[in-house]
Parts: sequence; C-alpha cells; structure tokens
Amino acid sequence: MPVLRTQVAIVGAGPAGLMLGHLLHLRGIDSVILENRSREYVIERVRAGVLEQGTVDLMTSSGVGDRLQREGMRHDGIYIAFDGARHHIDMAALTGGRAITVYGQNEVVKDLIAARIESGRPLHFEVEQVRPQGFDGTSPLVGFVENGERREIACDFIAGCDGFHGVCRESVPADRLNVYEREYPFGWLGILAHARPSSAELVYSNHRRGFALFSMRSPQVTRLYLQCAPDESLDAWPDERIWTELRLRLEMADGWRPNEGEIFQKGITGMRSFVVEPMRFGRLFLAGDAAHIVPPTGAKGLNLAMADVSRLAAALTRYYESGSEIGLDSYSEASLRRTWRAQRFSWWMTTMLHRPPDESAFDHKRQLAELDYLVNSRAAMTSLAENYVGTAFED
Ligand code: APR
Ligand code: PHB
Repeated sequence: MPVLRTQVAIVGAGPAGLMLGHLLHLRGIDSVILENRSREYVIERVRAGVLEQGTVDLMTSSGVGDRLQREGMRHDGIYIAFDGARHHIDMAALTGGRAITVYGQNEVVKDLIAARIESGRPLHFEVEQVRPQGFDGTSPLVGFVENGERREIACDFIAGCDGFHGVCRESVPADRLNVYEREYPFGWLGILAHARPSSAELVYSNHRRGFALFSMRSPQVTRLYLQCAPDESLDAWPDERIWTELRLRLEMADGWRPNEGEIFQKGITGMRSFVVEPMRFGRLFLAGDAAHIVPPTGAKGLNLAMADVSRLAAALTRYYESGSEIGLDSYSEASLRRTWRAQRFSWWMTTMLHRPPDESAFDHKRQLAELDYLVNSRAAMTSLAENYVGTAFED
C-alpha cells in the first residue's frame, strides 16, 4: 500500500482545515489535507458571513486578506429591532474601534484554497473512508481511499477539522468524550436575493411571528433569514410566502424594510449548541465545528474555528521549533474557554431574539424587558458589542 509521510495530517478542507494548513505552510511545516467532498461543493456551500476583527487580522497577517480588504464590508454597528423600531448599537464606539466585516464564508474558503494550491502542498478532494488511527501512541496514521485505492499517511499529529459530522471525533472511544448539548425548537430559513441592501448594517429583529435577520453579501445581494420550525420543508415556502413573512417581521414603523428581488438560493438549518471536551486526545487535536457548534445568532461559528486553528498552528510551530509541548498541552483548555464564552453569548442572543413554540406570556414580557434594558443601557450594549466583535486571538 502506498504510504505518504507528513508532519500534520489535516482532515477536512473547511475554513478550519484550510487555514491550519496555510499557517503551518508559512512556518515551513508540512501537511496533507484530506476532504471527502469535491472542490466545487466546498466552494459553493453557502454558510455564514460575519468575520470578527480577529479573523480579519489573521487573514490579513497571513497574506490571504487582499480580496477581503477589497470586497469585505466593514460594519461598525448593528441594529436590534423589536416593537416596530430599530435600535442602533455602535459597536466600534463601544469597543475602542473594533468592528466586524461581512464576507461570505465560501469566499474565505475560495481564498484559502487558492493559497493552498499556490503553496504546492497536497490537498486531496473526494477521498473516502478516512480513518484516523494510533493517535494515542507516537506514530499516528490516517487511512483513506482515493480513486478506489487504499492509502495511508504516516504523521506526527492529526488535526480533526472535519466539522460536526466528521470522522475524527467519532474515532475517539465514547467514554473519553464529555458532550454538552442543547437543541433549539426552531430553525432558520435563509435566502440570498438579488436586491441592494436597504440598510448599511445588519438588523436582528425580535417579532411575535418569530425572529428575522437582515444581512447582506455584497452591494447587490441581500441575505435574509427567518425563524421556522426545525423540521420545516422548503416545499412549504414558495418565494411569495417568504417575502410576505419577511415583510411582516422586518418592516418597521418608520417604513424601513428590506429591498426585494429574485431569490437565487434557499436553505434551512437547525439550531444547536454543542461542545465536546477535551479537544485533544493524544496526538489528535479537534478544531472548529468538529469540537463545537453554536447557533448562528451570534455569528461565532467560523470565528471560533479560526481562533482554534490560530492557537493550534502556534502550538505546533513552537513544538517543531523548540521541542516544547507547552502550547500543545494548553490547547484544549484555552480553546474551550473561548468556546464557552461564545456558547454563552450565542445562547443569550438566541433566547433573547427567538420566539419558542411554548413561550408563556411571562417569558415574552421578560424578553421585551431584556431588549428594553439592552438598548437603553450603555453597559448592556457594551457587553453585546464586546462579545459580538470578539476578543483578539491569543496566539
Ligand atoms: N473525511 C474528510 N473530510 C470530511 C469528513 C470526512 N470523514 N467529514 C467531513 N469532512 C469535511 C466536510 O466536507 C467539510 O468540508 O470537513 C469539512 C469541515 O468544514 P466545516 O463544516 O465548514 O467546519 P469548520 O472548518 O470547522 O468551519 C467552521 O463555521 O460558520 C460556521 O458551521 C460553519 O462551517 C462552518 C464553521
Ligand atoms: C449571515 O450574513 O449569513 C449572517 C449574519 C449574522 C448572523 C448569522 C448569519 O448572526
């Protein structure tokens, strides 16, 4: 059987795996990236699009930020809407100038794939039966099948960057995993439409009919979401029903509402909070969605993945440069601390803005009081702003 040899075998070519491979390449560390989907699928998969300052800084400092600098849309604030009015939260003013940038996750992936190909380092798409093995010892292996041929990679470390449904977390015996999980009784129906964004900043709306979110992808493309049942079928949502519902939930007393246009992409996602502890098992390190999922309300998923791999790349670099395992030993604890802060924030944003099916009159009044406090207290707005823009990546 042909055996490849590398320093770090990376499973998954999402943002986490690709960024890890890129950061290692810049430090002269060799890696092989294995992805079970096709290149087109990975590039075209529509996901979130809010980058924290830390993610933007990481992309820029690592030389993959050119298009992001040109095409990314910097947002200094967001709106929180309820009772027919939008309330502005000036995040930059509240955080000493930090902001978020709207740039689709698939654009991030496209830029990272281009950098990988330019580096000449291996990136294998459409591989099957990926099997991480031997990570409790000193010589891990990753088995896989490519073009019907069984192959193996011998490596020093395995990075499990293969998302929530990946194989790496699954390959750890269940009794070594501590899982913390919460499913929400709703999902998001998301669309992309050819329509000029009617606001320069995002609008998160709490409405009696359910949550809705106004976002964008470019000066010509509006992105919109509405709360729906978790098991909702897209067949039940012809375009006209989507626009009717969005108008009801997003039109404000002052007449503001999203511009409308041709819908060219639709999808439904469930909402879940999930964390696995620890994030390291011997020579296997989990990063990104493989280790944790957040509901999208706080826009943290991609950013947490980037913070993980930034830390993991620094730890591996330190190991290869000096033999020190300090960074590797603290990876799990440090990453989990950031993860739990993001979990708390995402859960809070989600419960404040959505309408659960079993909501009591008390719950609804409490929610409105929370929103009222938020938009009238500088302390409360600062807390939201600080969490939303995110703290600097530590490594
Ligand atoms: N073998 C190889 N690759 C796999 C396997 C497998 N068994 N299982 C999954 N993958 C691939 C997926 O096809 C995907 O391309 O791993 C990749 C994981 O990428 P993501 O799911 O995007 O996860 P991650 O890179 O951690 O990115 C973080 O941020 O906005 C959020 O959830 C969103 O994807 C996002 C995430
Ligand atoms: C998006 O633009 O896709 C988006 C924006 C904000 C979120 C989630 C998704 O909280």
